[in-house]
Amino acid sequence: MSVTRISKALGKIAEPPEHGARVIAISSGKGGVGKSSITVNLAVAMAASGQSVLVLDADLGLANIDVMLGIRPKYDLFHVITGQKTLDEIVVNGPHGIGIVPAASGVSRMTELACTEHAGLIHAFDALNRSVDVMLIDTAAGIADSVRMFCKAAQEVVVVVCDEPASITDAYALIKVLNQDHKVKRFQVLCNMVQHSQHGRQLYAKLAKVADTYLDVSLGYLGCIPADEKLKQSVRRQQSVIDAFPYSASAVAFRSMADALLALPVPVRSSGFIEFFAGQGLMAKAAVGGA
Ligand SMILES: Nc1ncnc2c1ncn2[C@@H]1O[C@H](COP(=O)(O)OP(=O)(O)O)[C@@H](O)[C@H]1O
Ligand SMILES: [Mg+2]
Repeated sequence: MSVTRISKALGKIAEPPEHGARVIAISSGKGGVGKSSITVNLAVAMAASGQSVLVLDADLGLANIDVMLGIRPKYDLFHVITGQKTLDEIVVNGPHGIGIVPAASGVSRMTELACTEHAGLIHAFDALNRSVDVMLIDTAAGIADSVRMFCKAAQEVVVVVCDEPASITDAYALIKVLNQDHKVKRFQVLCNMVQHSQHGRQLYAKLAKVADTYLDVSLGYLGCIPADEKLKQSVRRQQSVIDAFPYSASAVAFRSMADALLALPVPVRSSGFIEFFAGQGLMAKAAVGGA
């Protein structure tokens, strides 16, 4: 299924999804909780199990998916935004045939994109000529416009937390903004760097308690990834932990989490790229002023 199909499948204006094309945003309130590591490892686990995976590095000004995988892309989203390249021309191949859409690093212009440029960027996926079963979006931390837009455009929003008070309160803030301003209702909580599985459950329970009290959301528990020295080592080797240390505790956890994500039902009436931008009246503006 091409991304054209994905964006169509995601949009209510087109036919419902055919067979399991998924767009999953990996986000967090606070930075440094493990989003990029999680994105890379879920992508590898899914690709190794036969899915065709596309990773969008959506930390637009501070790219690091490429660094984590030891890839040096020549072009990135900056070149798409400025009209120099198409998305097809910037996608690079990573391990296990994963397609990677690289972001720019240290380009502040990319963190200040106008609404129409965000829309143009998303719209550019319509023209991507690549077969994709799963698209994973590694967002920036926080509640910036780009984060909201990518989360709103995804079918699943995975919120990563770890055991730090600010991580939980910032995750709550992100969920609240997405829920109240963008009507996102469904979230999957992933607890990272936990000491044991009970620890993950406790963190989830803390967040779920406040969210259930104050928001109209459904908060699923996706599971936890243990704090693992092997994961840190794999980052230094610029490899996924699944490839570098396939039997490490975190690699095992990533594989079962990838299976759990793929087993989630694909929401038929999910929010999606086309729906979102059409709903915001942005498609026309993007066509005029976007990339
Ligand atoms: N489960 C884990 N165990 C040990 N270290 C981890 C784990 N997850 C992430 N890290 C480390 O935490 C740091 C931040 O991770 P990163 O994926 O860059 O976070 P983010 O993308 O949210 O900013 C990195 O040094 C990474 O190696
Ligand atoms: Mg990151």
